[in-house]
Amino acid sequence: MSASRNAGTAVCPGSYDPVTFGHLDVIARAANVFENVVVGVVDQPVRKQQTLFRAAERVSFIEGEVAEYPNVQVKPFDTLLVDFAREHGAKAIVKGLRAISDFEYEFEMNQLNRKMAPDIESIYLMAAPEFSFLSSSGIKELAMFGGDISGLVPERVAARLQEELKR
Ligand code: PNS
Repeated sequence: MSASRNAGTAVCPGSYDPVTFGHLDVIARAANVFENVVVGVVDQPVRKQQTLFRAAERVSFIEGEVAEYPNVQVKPFDTLLVDFAREHGAKAIVKGLRAISDFEYEFEMNQLNRKMAPDIESIYLMAAPEFSFLSSSGIKELAMFGGDISGLVPERVAARLQEELKR
């Protein structure tokens, strides 16, 4: 980890249904830059279908992977993202961007969040090349059809996915 981090708190929000190594890479990089990082797990995302995993389990998957970072906390939220960020005194929202296809959605979210909270800056980290194709929905699809998801999500997540998708 870097010796001098940016003072203050950043929020890394998402549905994380489930968390992937791509998300974990963004969280680790944010934790290298900011003094404190709060990973915000959306309880029930408005624009997506029902999540496969409940918020408590999505939180616990991430907690299991960030234990080595003393400056990272994981919390569920069911409010506006900017209210969650304010509640934690965050000055920034940090998100990953994979491909141009992410841009339109993120641009819209950025404008909404900026309108409501111009004092909270949104910062985008480009996905590492090895994770640029990785998405939670892609992982669920692979798992559902028996594809190999090892190396893409933590082992515990892979095991739970296999259990859930067998039903
Ligand atoms: O696509 P994701 O990663 O699941 O994004 C979730 C989130 C909360 C980061 C995104 O929906 C967002 O930026 N929303 C801003 C509007 C808001 O606060 N909505 C309420 C929570 S869904």
